[in-house]
Amino acid sequence: MSNEDRLRDELVVLGRSLYDRGLAHGSAGNLSVKLSDGWLMSPTNSCLGRLDPARLSRLDAQGRLVDGDAPSKETFLHLAMYGERATCGAVVHLHSVHAVAVSCLDGLDPQDAFPPITAYAVMQVGQLALVPYFPPGDPALAEAVRSVASKHHSILLANHGPVVAGSSLSAAVGAMEELEQTARLVLLLDGHRTRLLDPAQVADLQRRFPG
Ligand code: 13P
Repeated sequence: MSNEDRLRDELVVLGRSLYDRGLAHGSAGNLSVKLSDGWLMSPTNSCLGRLDPARLSRLDAQGRLVDGDAPSKETFLHLAMYGERATCGAVVHLHSVHAVAVSCLDGLDPQDAFPPITAYAVMQVGQLALVPYFPPGDPALAEAVRSVASKHHSILLANHGPVVAGSSLSAAVGAMEELEQTARLVLLLDGHRTRLLDPAQVADLQRRFPG
């Protein structure tokens, strides 16, 4: 089996896993993975639970469709992540419920939208950037992502949902799962007196577990 065929299968398996656990629904969300000469992308309007490995959108090194179904309308957002992050091997965008709920809250810190509540949030999500609202697929959304992507591998699109870049599909999906769980905890703790990790504890985690 070629490396590309393995990545096609992995993208389909992880899409189904996200869907089966309620992290993706309907046709929301998109996944991509880098190849040596381009990318594989989930097709637009496809359900992440029912992707067909043979029909994934195959893009060349310029991001042009060369095979498969029409790509996600967020392709430019994914390409902005790859363009700004040399180590990026995969990108995941979801409309997972708790992260979307946080993306609708007023008064978030645009450089660090989650408070430092747990070690794993610091280690895997890092500093979550918030970008302003733009309609799905709008080139301005991709540009907003590009403007923060070199400093942040986790980005929250206001009133829309999260985007995570990782070195591999499994790393990006794992960090996205941590992001969703952290969003859930942030909402659960709302209104409760909360002890946050202090700046020295955050710096210690960043030193021990560099991105
Ligand atoms: P696509 O179906 O074009 O991938 O769009 C889904 C989505 O999540 C838009 O933000």
